[in-house]
Amino acid sequence: MESTISVETLQHAWLLDLAVAPSLPMNRRLYLLLRQSILIGNIKIGAKLPATRQLAKALGIARNTVIYAFELLQAEGFLNGQTGDGTYVADVSFFTQQLSNQQAAVGHPQFSQRGMQIIGDTQLVPRIQSQTHAFIPGIPSVKDFPLDKWIKTLNQVVRRYEPDWMGYVREGGVAELKMALCQHLRLTRALNCEPEQIIVTAGTQQSLDLLIRSLTDHDDLAWIEDPGYNGARSAMRASGVFPCPVPVDEEGLYWEGESALPVPKLIYITPSHQYPLGSVMSLARRQALLQYAYQNNCWILEDDYDSEFRYAGPPLTALQGLDQQGRVIYMGTFSKVMFPGLQLGYLVAPKSLVSGLMKVQSRLYREGQYLVQAALAQFIDQGLFAAHIRRMKSIYAERQSLLKETLSNELKQEARWLGGSAGLHLVIALPNTVDDVALSQDLLRDHIIAPALSTYYTGEVRQKGLMLGYAAVTQEDMPLVVKLLAKHLSNYLDKVCS
Ligand SMILES: Cc1ncc(COP(=O)(O)O)c(C=O)c1O
Repeated sequence: MESTISVETLQHAWLLDLAVAPSLPMNRRLYLLLRQSILIGNIKIGAKLPATRQLAKALGIARNTVIYAFELLQAEGFLNGQTGDGTYVADVSFFTQQLSNQQAAVGHPQFSQRGMQIIGDTQLVPRIQSQTHAFIPGIPSVKDFPLDKWIKTLNQVVRRYEPDWMGYVREGGVAELKMALCQHLRLTRALNCEPEQIIVTAGTQQSLDLLIRSLTDHDDLAWIEDPGYNGARSAMRASGVFPCPVPVDEEGLYWEGESALPVPKLIYITPSHQYPLGSVMSLARRQALLQYAYQNNCWILEDDYDSEFRYAGPPLTALQGLDQQGRVIYMGTFSKVMFPGLQLGYLVAPKSLVSGLMKVQSRLYREGQYLVQAALAQFIDQGLFAAHIRRMKSIYAERQSLLKETLSNELKQEARWLGGSAGLHLVIALPNTVDDVALSQDLLRDHIIAPALSTYYTGEVRQKGLMLGYAAVTQEDMPLVVKLLAKHLSNYLDKVCS
């Protein structure tokens, strides 16, 4: 037996809605209120609604307002209207069932196993705790970015906005940017490339995802440096690819002598500035790795995320520039040289892969940000990009020295540093008896973010330590944050020495 929903019940709900809901036109408001009440079961399936005239009077609104809401709900199938007989709630049990399933799932999020793995691998930097930016790895000093020049460039480009930029262009990015990048990469990184080999992406993370999806199948295997970049590991897992950890020493990736390492489909490396240890891959290892890739038909994904900031001379030649058989795919990002919020990057692929990769890109993510890409091209062409890199290089070099110097003054024990020839972070090495995860958590309580080196390993933890991103820590903030760092470090080092 259907019940009749009382005018008083609706009156009560209406008054509550008026008190809390944002201001909306009355007819829309009533429609939403009735729909929601039906969906959550406050108005039951089969219930009879009051007549429009009666309801309008009770709610103090025009009858037309009620008629609008009823008609829309009828058109959408929530109500059945039978002239002369009244208006009834339709059988929407499908929706109410979904809602109760969803409520039952609260507290048990239905993530897939790979979703759970990625979530487990990811630590988001708490915003409040990072006001001094000490010592978040991978963050450039955005305060020193020449925002005025960038805005001026954007404004100039807006004035010559091209109709093409408003549509779906499927050419792997704006031609001017590919041209400017190609010149920049040939000059500064000795890359062997033509503009048509460049595909502009929404950053390295997207380049990785695009390449892994396009070049591997589920259950394939990829080599990843250990310790290594968790973002690459997550991209592999997201495609069902198994990340096989390969150790790293002061010459970079080493696999010889590592018995029975399976042949991978692809190899992910950071040869110019190993992430996180900071080592530079030696020429001998580069040659050996290329040789291995040629013999075994593997792709090498070269992540060159921050080598523009090399302190001892110009940036080193990229591995791509040494490749004679088109096995290396180079990935760059503007997240460090410009600012992370830009989220633009690029890859340089062998010619045989370019058109296929562009198709996958256009199907899975689309291109876009053409205006920003064109502005970036102008920024590079006018020399503003190179000038910014030059200026930041000297600021970062100063901050790195200040960190080392201040810490050695504050710390009773001798600090052992890893890396530092390039990039935005250093590693302070710790004895393997130190619990670097607990130390990192203690530092967090003092608003210092210094991830434990252990968390970058998937295999055996060969070196304990802390990652210290110094680039965004100003000269003024440095003494105070280093004091805090030294206090915690000393506590832990004292414990293991005593
Ligand atoms: C090793 C490494 N590669 C690449 C990136 C940049 O990724 P994206 O371009 O997606 O910002 C980062 C950022 O932290 C990184 O640490």
